[in-house]
Amino acid sequence: MTSQTINGTLCRFTLLLFMFALFAPSASIAKKTKIFGLEMNVIDRCWRWNPEWRRNRPQLATCSVGFAGKMTNNIGRDLVHYKVTDPSDNPLDPKPGTLRYGATMIKQKVWITFKKDMKIKLEKPLLISSFTAIDGRGTNVHIAGNACLLIFKATNIIIHGLHIHHCHPQEPSSVMGPEQQVIPLGHVDGDAIRLVTASKVWLDHNTLYECQDGLLDVTRGSTDVTVSNNWFREQDKVMLLGHDDGYLRDKNMKVTVVYNHFGPNCNQRMPRIRHGYAHVANNLYQGWMQYAIGGSECPKVKSEANLFIAPKSGKKEVTWRKGNDQNEGSWKFYSVRDSFENGASFTQSELGRLKPNYTTDQIFEVADAKSVRPLTKAAGALKCTKTSRC
Ligand SMILES: *[C@@H]1O[C@H](CO)[C@@H](O)[C@H](O)[C@H]1NC(C)=O
Repeated sequence: MTSQTINGTLCRFTLLLFMFALFAPSASIAKKTKIFGLEMNVIDRCWRWNPEWRRNRPQLATCSVGFAGKMTNNIGRDLVHYKVTDPSDNPLDPKPGTLRYGATMIKQKVWITFKKDMKIKLEKPLLISSFTAIDGRGTNVHIAGNACLLIFKATNIIIHGLHIHHCHPQEPSSVMGPEQQVIPLGHVDGDAIRLVTASKVWLDHNTLYECQDGLLDVTRGSTDVTVSNNWFREQDKVMLLGHDDGYLRDKNMKVTVVYNHFGPNCNQRMPRIRHGYAHVANNLYQGWMQYAIGGSECPKVKSEANLFIAPKSGKKEVTWRKGNDQNEGSWKFYSVRDSFENGASFTQSELGRLKPNYTTDQIFEVADAKSVRPLTKAAGALKCTKTSRC
């Protein structure tokens, strides 16, 4: 850590202390982080304690950590607030009030919320424009039953608080895309969220399950992604980081996977990584069938303070590596402060650390593995009542 980083962190900390002192003169920080006996992680602690969070939804953008950094490019004076009122979908001619209209037709920064609970059956993949935040907090929104989300050549995107499930593959088609341009799409696999050449993307508090391909694909040169507080369950192939063995641009891929809950009934790829670097920290692994973390083509993974609960019967080993990658040096998987239950084991490649080298906007303190259960307890889309906290 450079002295600049330390100064920056200190500054932030002092500011935070000041803010707490301002808003809650009687409560200590320790108490604040344990509202209703709930221990909150660093992301949630940034907004969930505030019963007035609805008044300033975009404040959420300041709460992200990890390789996505702070999402402050998504907010500011020129931000357009857009409310989804209509669950219908027209892929080529989106109607005002629909999710697709908000995600493609508005040329400025947009913060999308939902008027009421709804189930949206997308007719075609939803292409999301740069500088878009989709905020499902306070509503029960399901995107399910057909096409799902696609972030293609876009940047600065927040997806928060959605249930995405039962996603099906899609035939080649054309859809309305960013900047009101019609975009021809090839075949799209049935993933819940797919990133293709995307950067600076924050996926937080979503519930993802039972899709035909995977739940999350980060591919084709995508980087600077934080996957936090999500609940991944009931899925064979959960998370793919890196397109295919031959796609060398994914060497620069950097992804943070933190405070997620994997399981029950997840089989493999939590994540599977090719080429790039993943910092996998403070996640709860509620069993697996084939493996939890695997990879090929010189992937680098720092697994830090996760809780790996092996299945009662079957494979106890967390990791998997593709056949040809047995040679030392090509495959760097490190386990630091991880916790293992039910006989779980983690085969490391060699001793080492592989720091993520986070900037001041990205850095966060990784908690002890003992805290993983409480810190991931609220993973997935939150239930927020009309009058109270989330
Ligand atoms: C962090 O920096 C060290 C030293 O320069 C380097 O070896 C390592 O690969 C870097 N980590 C990442 C994730 O780039």
